[in-house]
Amino acid sequence: MSKIILTGDRPTGRLHIGHYVGSLRRRVELQNSGEYDKIFIMIADAQALTDNAENPEKVRQNIVEVALDYLSAGLDPDKITILIQSMVPELTELTFYYMNLVTVSRVQRNPTIKSELQMRGFGDSIPVGFFTYPISQAADITAFKATTVPVGEDQMPMLEQCQEIVHKFNSVYGDTLVEPKILLPENQACLRLPGTDGKAKMSKSLGNCIFLADTADETKTKVMSMYTDPNHINVNDPGQIEGNTVFTYLDAFSRPEHFEAFNPGYANLEEMKDHYKRGGLGDVKCKKFLINVLNAELEPIRARRKEWEKDIPGVYEILKKGSAIAEAEAADTLARVRRAMKINYFEDGALIKEQAEKYKN
Ligand code: TRP
Repeated sequence: MSKIILTGDRPTGRLHIGHYVGSLRRRVELQNSGEYDKIFIMIADAQALTDNAENPEKVRQNIVEVALDYLSAGLDPDKITILIQSMVPELTELTFYYMNLVTVSRVQRNPTIKSELQMRGFGDSIPVGFFTYPISQAADITAFKATTVPVGEDQMPMLEQCQEIVHKFNSVYGDTLVEPKILLPENQACLRLPGTDGKAKMSKSLGNCIFLADTADETKTKVMSMYTDPNHINVNDPGQIEGNTVFTYLDAFSRPEHFEAFNPGYANLEEMKDHYKRGGLGDVKCKKFLINVLNAELEPIRARRKEWEKDIPGVYEILKKGSAIAEAEAADTLARVRRAMKINYFEDGALIKEQAEKYKN
């Protein structure tokens, strides 16, 4: 069986370094591993509209931002397919059929939906489209016959719901859909990178993000004001690593060669952490090291972004080509789905014959 990846992002803002360690970096590795037959990366504009119906301009503006972030992170349109969700209308038809296989109470129990509903404060005014986006996401995944879905931990309930839909569909209509598996980030710190303020989630609305498109100076300013250990007042005080954002970021980003280049006093992060815990290592020193680490990782990304920014029409061309390739794949799945459900009336010779028989004499 071929190995196929599908994953994506809502275009509601530029991507930040939480997206990078949580998924983008991994996608580039998967792309370059040569282990996958096909890789589809989706800019999920239709999903973004489920809670931005009154603000389509935001979604429209951010499609190219996300595409630029993809390309600058190292995704290569010669190796993978980048598509815009709404440009593949087959996805909505699949969604419509899958909706019949899912109960309202099952969606209500989806933990991601539960917490998102709360966060957005919809109260009694939940848009139906938003409520059903887990089903549409199952259409995204199955349309491309994805075997592997590399996403963050918060998407786990979406994957479980998708697997249930696949099982239900296959048991009702016969073996048709491919069951996907989730691929989580390996590094614990990358599962969910906290915001620069130490809050659990990096999010644009909280203003605690470092964006991939930030300059070296902006990155520096953000790191210098980062949350650390509030009880680590004097350099010689023992410091705490847990919940200390600087160290969480170092967990996610630093590699042995960074110590050689910028922080030769320590062989690795463990030694540096030990010093901090003992006391005698100041926050400013740690932050300066983190700035160097981040800028070393982000510099090639910024440079590629500069290049792609010079060719915006070319970026749209990539999206157009990718969407056409994606549509062909989704159309194939939709045809199989219609056949399985026996709603492919005009290609069903047996049905026409059977009905004709019924009315003989
Ligand atoms: N829900 C994902 C997010 O918020 C985006 C997304 C849409 C997605 N369709 C998908 C992710 C299919 C994985 C697979 O970022």
